[in-house]
Amino acid sequence: MGILKKHHHLERNVTLLAIFAFLVVTIGGLVQIAPLFWLENTIEDVEGMRPYTPLELVGRDVYVREGCYVCHSQMIRPMRDEVERYGHYSLAAESKYDHPHQWGSKRTGPDLARVGGRYSDEWHVDHLRDPQAVVPESVMPKYGFLENRLIDGKYIEDRIRTERLVGVPYTDEMVENAAADFRAQSNPDADTDGLLERYGEAVPIRNFDGAAGISEADALIAYLQMLGTLVDFSTFTPVASR
Ligand code: HEC
Repeated sequence: MGILKKHHHLERNVTLLAIFAFLVVTIGGLVQIAPLFWLENTIEDVEGMRPYTPLELVGRDVYVREGCYVCHSQMIRPMRDEVERYGHYSLAAESKYDHPHQWGSKRTGPDLARVGGRYSDEWHVDHLRDPQAVVPESVMPKYGFLENRLIDGKYIEDRIRTERLVGVPYTDEMVENAAADFRAQSNPDADTDGLLERYGEAVPIRNFDGAAGISEADALIAYLQMLGTLVDFSTFTPVASR
């Protein structure tokens, strides 16, 4: 009875209520936020994650520039309908090299977090050229012009350096060979040993858009085909927070 009476008093006194509400929110905030100051890292390490190859990185830049994120998210939430449709829910580690991340919340089109390997390169070329030719009811705009925009890769070394500046662990070797790796990934005839050594044997090396020269379509498709494929979910087991 006594405590109820006191609470009644508190609720009727605006100043007291404000002070106590502030105290409660402060304690709650501290409990939530303070531990983060002492945690070195809140993202668990996951096997398979690597920085983007130079070609994928350029493709990602095209993705951001063209505003693909306006209609596509890259974040599979841990809910049954999402997991059944798109695959394993997204891990924090899967976007740890993303600056900025492409999670998004607007899905005019499907989530793309695991679109890698779902379609052939040819499918992507056709789809980017004319989405309605592939999916008649699609409202996605046409991006065929990307095939005509060739990239010479001159700035790619600086681009990789910039990523390193914001914390992506590109090695000196990766930086120095950025332009060569950029060219090698879309040319199956090139010497690709260095590229595979630096970024892993699983890096796909193909002429992604099927045409001569390295175009923005090459880069974009290389990026799309990598999405969600780095972590092997047949062997992945989540680790409880340490
Ligand atoms: C105006 C909204 C819109 C924009 C902008 C947009 N898309 Fe789409 N996208 C869609 C819709 C709707 C679909 C589903 C129908 C289809 O497959 O075309 C789709 C489907 C896709 C698919 C197939 C996904 C799947 O799992 O079937 C890919 C890949 C894709 N878009 C890539 C892109 C890329 C890359 C860009 C930027 C260059 C982009 N989209 C921009 C609306 C958009």
